[in-house]
Amino acid sequence: MTSDTSGKAPATGYFTEDNSVEVVNARIGGNVDARLATVLACLVKHLHTFAQEIELTQEEWELGIGFLTRTGQICTRERQEFILLSDTLGLSMLVDAINNRRPNGATENTVLGPFHVEGAPVRAMGERITLDGKGDSCLFLGRVLDLDGNPVEGARIDVWSDNADGYYDVQQPNIQPKWNNRGVFVTGPDGHYSFIGIKPVSYPIPDDGPVGKMLDQLGRHPYRPAHMHYIVQAQGYQKLVTHTFVGDDPYLDSDTVFGVKKTLVAPFEPAADGDILWRSDFDFVLARFE
Ligand SMILES: [Fe+2]
Repeated sequence: MTSDTSGKAPATGYFTEDNSVEVVNARIGGNVDARLATVLACLVKHLHTFAQEIELTQEEWELGIGFLTRTGQICTRERQEFILLSDTLGLSMLVDAINNRRPNGATENTVLGPFHVEGAPVRAMGERITLDGKGDSCLFLGRVLDLDGNPVEGARIDVWSDNADGYYDVQQPNIQPKWNNRGVFVTGPDGHYSFIGIKPVSYPIPDDGPVGKMLDQLGRHPYRPAHMHYIVQAQGYQKLVTHTFVGDDPYLDSDTVFGVKKTLVAPFEPAADGDILWRSDFDFVLARFE
């Protein structure tokens, strides 16, 4: 008499090309975090569909694993290559868009970027944030308003930009003064803000790693169009993370991280006021929590 050595097949059947998603996702236990199960099941579905749709070769799979490995290996406290990857594939902007749907008239969000630093000095309204003396001085001014056009008092405006050489202070800790081109301003009852920075310049994202190589292989440049970063927060309002962009920048229509929105292109006009060469007026409109 022969014994049965076939064992017990999974309820879904054994793994095949046709039922792969079903088989893999059937392994998710019943007593696990529901959102985690949903997210992973959807990820498996799309990964398998991706591999099937393009008939992924073994060599391509190995190339992908190698790419992701190198992407992880170059990451440090200061260098986050996976975020660069997400940014350059448009995923960061998509997640930002999904999570920051706003009513018409409210200022739009865009990506935070990797160079924000908590704890920038709170400065007096109108103060200069440029500490290295480089670049074309620019007066930034405007108001923080609600959707009805009323000024928002006590709004905290955290601003940062690169310097005239295209680097943030944190990229050049031994070259630039700490907090160069950064500051926090708090609005008074009139909602006005103003500060003196520089007219920002376009810069490449760090492109000496796997993501830079990927961009090169895809015939893409690594540049971001010139922009000033803002986080605007006020009690009772949705947090606004955004930039204003310099309108005549050559990279405006090809931002490597897809951060540009039409409504965020700000006027930069010649000022010729002492050493202030430029002026940029921009109002921020905050939406209340729903
Ligand atoms: Fe930036």
